[in-house]
Amino acid sequence: MMGVIDQGELSVLMTADTIQSRVRELAVEIDGWDAGDELHVIGVMKGGVVFLCDLIRALSRPVTLDFVAMSSYGNETEPFSEPRLTKTLDEGIEDRDVLVVEDIVDTGGTLSWLLKYLTARRPRSLRTVALLDKGVRRKVDVRVDLVGFRIQNHFVVGYGLDFAERYRHLPYLGVLEPSGMRAEDDAVVTTLHAD
Ligand code: IMP
Repeated sequence: MMGVIDQGELSVLMTADTIQSRVRELAVEIDGWDAGDELHVIGVMKGGVVFLCDLIRALSRPVTLDFVAMSSYGNETEPFSEPRLTKTLDEGIEDRDVLVVEDIVDTGGTLSWLLKYLTARRPRSLRTVALLDKGVRRKVDVRVDLVGFRIQNHFVVGYGLDFAERYRHLPYLGVLEPSGMRAEDDAVVTTLHAD
């Protein structure tokens, strides 16, 4: 499995420019929300971190930051059945206006679990923004307030997202495919070799 994907191709799904202009649109929407002035932004490590860094710099309102880490895929392209919190919050969230920043909602299991965990800590408000939504794979009904891009069932890397810890640094989003296969998505504009 690993060998096949490793020697496969990486197709560009969203260019860096496309991502950046959508991030600015998301920031305008978040600035318009009626929650209190200061937003307490909780990033989900590691995949959501690159998106979070761009998003908070595009916001006009002040933010405070915290992070959680959730286990998800390990080295495979299928999720673990039950998410695990591998880093907890540094600060309490009671009476704060919280925004959870996720990289991608796939089955919905990870975000659903996290929202229950956070709700139990009594925030004043709790909203979510995800860069990507792979809705076709949803198994758990979970509320996502804002979505950057809705995508087909591709395994996506880059802009924070990884496969076996690789590709996170790429400024664009790419689709990993075994060698010789093409993504059936109109948004795929260029084909590059992963190495
Ligand atoms: P879910 O619990 O199935 O919704 O999975 C959510 C988590 O799985 C995300 O936060 C990612 O860490 C990971 N994930 C899901 N799809 C992808 C993908 O296409 N590329 C990289 N990571 C993914």
